[in-house]
Amino acid sequence: MSRPGIRRIVVIAVVLLGLCGIAFAAIAYRPAIARVTRPDPRQFDPALVARGANLARLGNCVSCHQAAGGRPYVGGYPIKTPFGTIYGSNITPDSATGIGSWSPAAFRRAMREGVGRDGSHLYPAFPYTHYAGVADGDVDALYAFLMTRPAVRAVPPANRMIPPLGFRPLLAGWKLLFFDPQPVVADPRQSAAWNRGRYIGETLAHCTACHSPRGLLQQEKRGDRAYDGGWSGGWYAPPINARSPAVRAWTVERLDAYFRTGLSTAHAAAAGPMGPVTYNLARAEPADVRAMATYYAWQMRAAPAARAEPRLPDRRALAGQRHPEGARLYDGACAVCHEPGAAMMVAGRPALPLGTPLHEANPRDTIQVILKGLKPPVAPRGPYMPAFADALDDRQVAEIVAYLQARHGTGPAWPDLETDVAAARKEGE
Ligand code: HEC
Ligand code: HEC
Ligand code: HEC
Repeated sequence: MSRPGIRRIVVIAVVLLGLCGIAFAAIAYRPAIARVTRPDPRQFDPALVARGANLARLGNCVSCHQAAGGRPYVGGYPIKTPFGTIYGSNITPDSATGIGSWSPAAFRRAMREGVGRDGSHLYPAFPYTHYAGVADGDVDALYAFLMTRPAVRAVPPANRMIPPLGFRPLLAGWKLLFFDPQPVVADPRQSAAWNRGRYIGETLAHCTACHSPRGLLQQEKRGDRAYDGGWSGGWYAPPINARSPAVRAWTVERLDAYFRTGLSTAHAAAAGPMGPVTYNLARAEPADVRAMATYYAWQMRAAPAARAEPRLPDRRALAGQRHPEGARLYDGACAVCHEPGAAMMVAGRPALPLGTPLHEANPRDTIQVILKGLKPPVAPRGPYMPAFADALDDRQVAEIVAYLQARHGTGPAWPDLETDVAAARKEGE
């Protein structure tokens, strides 16, 4: 090709690239919204503030906006993603470091579109993909609630993202691909409680954020993959739809008890990241929690256990022969609480095989419960299990898990247990 010909191609390529850049900048650009002086907390109607408090609990806001040992809504809680660590922001009404200078419009835009007051795009680790469906009045109630919290001056640690993902305008591309908020339209064929439960569960409570699988760019799978099971902080959030592996039916009553107390005596206690969810639900309006129980019992209405609860095997002798070391360790460390006849069992706690972890597609929750133990989910007293991460090595944990699955499991044997114990130690919180 002649030199002028090459030059022309280069010029065209540069012009096209420039045009793409301008188009992208136009898509990514969001204006800043002017600062306001912090609204006087006394101007908010106490009824609106109380409504916002309930919504904040249903929305689990504090889980990501409070660091370990820190104060509520001050932020600093690390959220680990495959692309880096993102810290929850300070959402107290401090004007310099929190959202004190945000107008209602700026707050609404953040909740609905994932855009900060200054116009920068926010990471979807902040579940605005769900909050986009929250009704106007509810967003305003949340604003009133947050604006009447104590203002705390504090800057959370800076995010640590894999380059170039620290460059926020790139998030506009992610939104273009995956952010397509759909309003939750009431279904007139269902009850008021079902519709209320669906509205809360699908928007504020963002249950799919953990319970749905995610794609390569962390987008949630939707449609018939919704509620098919997902991952959170090194734990597995099992399917809560027709594919639920639970061996006891999740009825409205049982879900209601699980959400409000962190324990279903027909199943088990809420462990890992589900613990804080129940902690907040325990403090929300009981009617709203009951509505969610109604909706999620319906989600699981076609699960195997909803049709017929299986008779659970106890292959104690056989499992002991196959995994003698696991049996010995279990008898030494676990039987005191979990063996039929133990004081805890006699007091009315669910037997080990009733819990879903031993029946899940992967061993992760069983491993994590052993490594991390279980804090009482909703109150200072409640179901408690000590952590064994320091007392047992990877091989010993794997032995116990193999023994328990051989004894009680209903699915195929889990392979590579030791590898998964090592991974669980690294990933888990
Ligand atoms: C799963 C974790 C999570 C939950 C739950 C959560 N947030 Fe956040 N939120 C974040 C993260 C992370 C950021 C910072 C995002 C960023 O830096 O791009 C954030 C940012 C925000 C911001 C923008 C603040 C700023 O300075 O840019 C607001 C406002 C906010 N959250 C409000 C809420 C409210 C209200 C709730 C409850 C209804 C809530 N969040 C629940 C993780 C969460
Ligand atoms: C932060 C992540 C996270 C969020 C948000 C979350 N879950 Fe979970 N959930 C989990 C994990 C992890 C487990 C497994 C815990 C265990 O084994 O004790 C779980 C367990 C459950 C179970 C027990 C299932 C079984 O068969 O044992 C139910 C029911 C449930 N979640 C419902 C919900 C609902 C409804 C919501 C929305 C209000 C929700 N979850 C929000 C992480 C989450
Ligand atoms: C101090 C008593 C105590 C000890 C010791 C203990 N656990 Fe637990 N464990 C609990 C409690 C309480 C729960 C919550 C559920 C319940 O109440 O049944 C639980 C839950 C579990 C669960 C998940 C829920 C389920 O029912 O499937 C598994 C798995 C488990 N324990 C395994 C073990 C193993 C393995 C050991 C020994 C290494 C052990 N536990 C030692 C008290 C204990």
